[in-house]
Amino acid sequence: DWTPQSFVEETVEDLQKKLGNDKVVLGLSGGVDSSVAAVLLHKAIGKNLYCIFVNNGLLRKNEFESVLKQYEGMGLNVKGVDASKRFLDALAGIDDPEKKRKAIGNAFIEVFDDEAHQIDNVTWLAQGTIYPDVIESVSATGGPSATIKSHHNVGGLPDFMKLKIVEPLKALFKDEVRRVGATLGINPLLLGRHPFPGPGLAIRILGDITAEKVRILQEVDAIFINGLREWGLYDKVWQAGAILLPVNSVGVMGDERTYEKCVALRAVESTDGMTADWVNLPYEFLQKTSNDIINKVKGVNRVVYDISSKPPATIEWE
Ligand code: XMP
Repeated sequence: DWTPQSFVEETVEDLQKKLGNDKVVLGLSGGVDSSVAAVLLHKAIGKNLYCIFVNNGLLRKNEFESVLKQYEGMGLNVKGVDASKRFLDALAGIDDPEKKRKAIGNAFIEVFDDEAHQIDNVTWLAQGTIYPDVIESVSATGGPSATIKSHHNVGGLPDFMKLKIVEPLKALFKDEVRRVGATLGINPLLLGRHPFPGPGLAIRILGDITAEKVRILQEVDAIFINGLREWGLYDKVWQAGAILLPVNSVGVMGDERTYEKCVALRAVESTDGMTADWVNLPYEFLQKTSNDIINKVKGVNRVVYDISSKPPATIEWE
């Protein structure tokens, strides 16, 4: 019978046998899967696990600093790398969604490769791959693995890709990963986090990306997500976020005419992200959130709520 306890015991033993005294590098994303994989590996091999957490400049507001602190508090051997500028430079002028994903994937590979090179004699790459990812990469939906593939065909393998791969969560579903994480003593707030796409806010800014647009969207997103938490709605929603539209519209402030940005809010219920329904958030919440956003975020004068289901819409707008 599968229990999280037995899974942890058996996996730790297997990992110790398999890895011995070898060094392992792992990229942390702030999400549930990579965090659980890291804690599991850390339990098995301790300081021989080298974690790298890259700030691509497209994370939520304050997320890099706060998540990095959490990882350090968990005893992980983690290096935070702020590569925001490199990613923003790589994205400059790009407005096509797939080109954005490719630019981000390539920048990530470069940064990660540089960092992995600084660890002497590392021989393994650990990944937080879970069972649904295994299925998805077969269908090549343009996720991170597909990005890595297209990069290979162009430029040859980056060095870290020559490492042996270890994927301790490969047979688990998301709810099992959460249970394993709880057994490992990981903070429930971290385990309960909504999914967040690898390309981050880049695919929630329609059109080209600038530092200023990222800043605006981070402010809007923080008001929305913190509001969901304050109203006890966060855990009732599978995923939520804000989208910055490439549209200005006319408004008034005092006696002045404004011509500013419009943002869309999106909150969905889902079990696996393959299908999704928009969430019927309380009007009072939407009203308060809209007022807060328009009053507090300079440059935004209109808020809309996305009431589209998947299919035919997708969760992300890009
Ligand atoms: P869509 O927009 O396809 O999203 O309905 C389904 C789920 O996948 C996430 N998503 C991504 N995750 N890299 C990722 O790591 C990506 O390029 C990507 N695109 C979408 C999305 O946030 C949702 O949870």
